[in-house]
Amino acid sequence: MIAKIKQLLEEVETLKVANAEELEALRIKYLSKKGAINDLMADFRNVAAEQKKEVGMRLNELKTKAQERITALKEQFESQDNGCSEMDLTRSAYPVKLGTRHPLSIVRNEIIDIFGRLGFSIAEGPEIEDDWHVFSALNFAEDHPARDMQDTFFIESHPDILLRTHTSSVQTRVMEVSEPPIRIICPGRVYRNEAISYRAHCFFHQVEALYVDKNVSFTDLKQVLLLFAKEMFGADTKIRLRPSYFPFTEPSAEMDISCNICGGKGCPFCKHTGWVEILGCGMVDPNVLESNGIDSKVYSGYALGMGIERITNLKYQVKDLRMFSENDTRFLKEFEAAN
Ligand code: DAH
Repeated sequence: MIAKIKQLLEEVETLKVANAEELEALRIKYLSKKGAINDLMADFRNVAAEQKKEVGMRLNELKTKAQERITALKEQFESQDNGCSEMDLTRSAYPVKLGTRHPLSIVRNEIIDIFGRLGFSIAEGPEIEDDWHVFSALNFAEDHPARDMQDTFFIESHPDILLRTHTSSVQTRVMEVSEPPIRIICPGRVYRNEAISYRAHCFFHQVEALYVDKNVSFTDLKQVLLLFAKEMFGADTKIRLRPSYFPFTEPSAEMDISCNICGGKGCPFCKHTGWVEILGCGMVDPNVLESNGIDSKVYSGYALGMGIERITNLKYQVKDLRMFSENDTRFLKEFEAAN
């Protein structure tokens, strides 16, 4: 019996395993009810009385050593699994940080959401356009300065092809293939031949909205504008409309909102006027309806267009337009909370 105990003790002290399954197999082999040590315990009653003391001590020693060895091997596995020997319960579950939305996307989505609740659905058109959809179908006169090379990027070999200068071109794309009622919102990127500075860029983003139906009036437009301003800038926001001119709307207006920085009292941001301009709008010129195959005696409509960078600047006071296209993560991180 003593020889058997010695042999098992040697085995136990040199135990090696490669994985958790092997470890469990060893535990069963030595320490379970039907294991080798328990078998010896069962034989203990047959040991001669004068040997019982020594055999008993050695048996206990074997059992303790076996338990210690198996526990040590188990701990070794667990620490390997964690990749560190001490468990840090404060560590975040996801070591990889998720990205955040770009501020222009946040604001674009907000605009789409507000108009979406009023029944406007999204329409898109190409950024590389032709003269007809950007200018002619929108009632721009042949000699309108916007058609000048100085403002518009033309494709040199094809003078009719250009980068769209506004998302109003999507109006014409939709009207030429649809019957009223038309209620669309058109977000997208536009291009202008401008020197890049903190307040101008050669590309930026706009959202255009168009509603054409029977009996659409300027009152409908005003109501939608007021609702949009309150939803976007807060319930206390006031609006004011100033007469303006766009070739594709008649009458045309520009809309100001009460300065959301000083609340209308006057500050450097609003040049002490209490108002800031945010968009252009008006009733769709009957010429535009007719150019796009819609009977202007039956239908009328309103349109409006705004720059997403402008709205974003008002909401978040971004002073340098170039920040929007540099993708500096320090800048983008500032918008984490708005995501
Ligand atoms: N397309 C104009 C621009 O780029 C913005 C605009 C003004 C759109 C008046 C409209 C409108 O639909 O009615 O400056």
